[in-house]
Amino acid sequence: MSLNLSLLCTPPAEVDADAVIAAVFEDTGLSPAARQLDQASGGRIAALLQSGDVSGKAGSCTLLLTLDGIRARRVLLIGVGKAERFDAAQYLKAASESIRALRNGPVASIHSTLPQLDVAGRDAGWKLRQAALAAFHVGYTYSATRTSAKASSLKALSLHGEESFGDALRLASGIADGVTLARELGNLPPNICTPAFLAEQAAKIVAGNERASIEVLDPDQMRALGMGALLAVGQGSANPPRLIVLRYVGAGADEKPHVLVGKGITFDTGGISIKPGPSMDEMKFDMCGAASVLGAFLATVRLGLKLNLVVIAAAAENMPDGLSYRPGDVLTSMSGKTIEVLNTDAEGRLVLCDALTYAQRFEPATLIDVATLTGACVIALGKFAHGLMSRDDALAAELIAAGEASHDRAWRMPVWDDYQSMLDSASADLANIGGKSAGAITAACFLARFTEGQQRWAHLDIAGTAWDEGRKGLATGRPVGLLVEWLMARQAAIA
Ligand code: BES
Ligand code: MN
Ligand code: ZN
Repeated sequence: MSLNLSLLCTPPAEVDADAVIAAVFEDTGLSPAARQLDQASGGRIAALLQSGDVSGKAGSCTLLLTLDGIRARRVLLIGVGKAERFDAAQYLKAASESIRALRNGPVASIHSTLPQLDVAGRDAGWKLRQAALAAFHVGYTYSATRTSAKASSLKALSLHGEESFGDALRLASGIADGVTLARELGNLPPNICTPAFLAEQAAKIVAGNERASIEVLDPDQMRALGMGALLAVGQGSANPPRLIVLRYVGAGADEKPHVLVGKGITFDTGGISIKPGPSMDEMKFDMCGAASVLGAFLATVRLGLKLNLVVIAAAAENMPDGLSYRPGDVLTSMSGKTIEVLNTDAEGRLVLCDALTYAQRFEPATLIDVATLTGACVIALGKFAHGLMSRDDALAAELIAAGEASHDRAWRMPVWDDYQSMLDSASADLANIGGKSAGAITAACFLARFTEGQQRWAHLDIAGTAWDEGRKGLATGRPVGLLVEWLMARQAAIA
């Protein structure tokens, strides 16, 4: 979506826009901007608050049309709850709900005064960046395979702020590009978004950029490398697997790269251990890990971050077929470790283990994998927090902090060796599933066996956070926000 972003310090009553947004608190009433609008309109807003037509309850929206004394055609008042409880989460909610209330109208230009509000622990740059990101998020429409999708009418957003904060807006649009790419790839149907399609889209990111390059491995090249686990997952599909490798050089050639690896199962039927029918369509989102690392890569390129980055997407389709791999098969992974397949639906860890082994040739400064890996993670954490597993306390702390800063939050679970015995197998070095319990952890423990020499390794399980479930559910673009925030912080650390 193209959205023209700008900064404006003009008093809200004098702003020329289709709509101006101002906040109302449940306890303390009109925000400073709402009060200015009230005064300009001769007390109309205070009167409506008094009569109960305007509410400060969090999320409640009131649209007022053509008020005398106010230049904008509309005033949208958004309730933000009690002043004492107003925090980053409330701010983000107000930022998106206020735009959402206007997104289906004829409104093309909006001025938001919300960045004027005080948010504990957050500075003006953060408030501006997040307000812009919220607008990009709400303004996104999936239309690629819909003939009658209505695009948002929103064309221009001005935010209350000093012009010196232009960097916050540039940051927002770079990050939004990455988030939107991840959402779009996630939302595309699995008959279009195949492993080869993902590779083509990845190639578009690097096209014409001299700091970025791509290499795509096909099944023959994977065979030559001994990637028996990744190949097995894809062998039942007419859409053969791809290992997509993107490199970005934004720092000195001797600077070790951070490496992000994404699970790219373009459709997960479960294979021979086939999934039940209901909601199986949602398994088109099983490539959201790959989509998010591609999105983080795009944002990194757009922002020109001063670091080196490698992104690897392990793309395959998990199908039942006469050629499929089966429960009982023993696979030899690229690492040489053998794996007994006890369930072909535990395929994510199989494509990831070979991608993680391959990743180590880049001598990563940090290695992070991102995957819609387990239903167990959805049960444990639901849709708000990513599961985070790492042996490395410092890296885990960095990622948790990046999640807090971007409000794209992760919650840590253990990957203690105690759990490793749950993966024991009589036929191979390890099995691809644990037992009934601790499913998100045993999946991470499986990956841990393929990153033994890598101190700074972390795993993000995004099974609950990558998309909103249900008939109208769309990809969220998470954890692009967290990843880019973390990458920006790494850049500061070497500068
Ligand atoms: N892609 C699924 C995990 C998943 C399930 C994500 C539901 C989001 C919603 C993964 O490949 C899978 O099938 N995992 C199995 C593992 C089990 C067989 C050990 C699961 O979680 O049931
Ligand atoms: Mn599966
Ligand atoms: Zn899967």
